[in-house]
Amino acid sequence: MAILTILEFPDPRLRTVAKPVQVVDGSIRRLIKDMFETMYDAPGVGLAATQVNIHQRIVVIDVSDDQNQPLVFINPEIAVLDDTLRDHDEGCLSVPGFYEQVERPEHVRVKALNEHGEAFELEPDGLTAVCIQHELDHLNGKLFVDYLSSIKRQRIRRKLEKIHKQAL
Ligand code: NI
Repeated sequence: MAILTILEFPDPRLRTVAKPVQVVDGSIRRLIKDMFETMYDAPGVGLAATQVNIHQRIVVIDVSDDQNQPLVFINPEIAVLDDTLRDHDEGCLSVPGFYEQVERPEHVRVKALNEHGEAFELEPDGLTAVCIQHELDHLNGKLFVDYLSSIKRQRIRRKLEKIHKQAL
């Protein structure tokens, strides 16, 4: 297992649209293990492969307090079930230190493959529903800051660029 480097906004590689996984094999399962290790180490509740510069449609999530409810979504597809919206404070391992309210559909259905390549469906609620939508956005090159006003987004961008420059 390995802890992978997480790309940070405004890194342009975060804008890559990920490709579907063709075969769920041992190398994909190794990647998933590394993604969980990276996410738990951060710590975070969700991680998309895009964030570790691997542009395949893979998401891992664990919103439990004890890091014991891992969920894997390969090639996830989301259907919005009704027009109920909900505000939630979102953060992102690729936008460290910033939390902002984002409005998203509350009721969604997710179809995906698990780490054995088996299809499954889930109607997540609460934080899991927020998280899967946030992570699926990553696979499409989208970040939660894209939902904010451009003034807020630019402010976050400048602060992170300053931090990245200091770290060089
Ligand atoms: Ni994120």
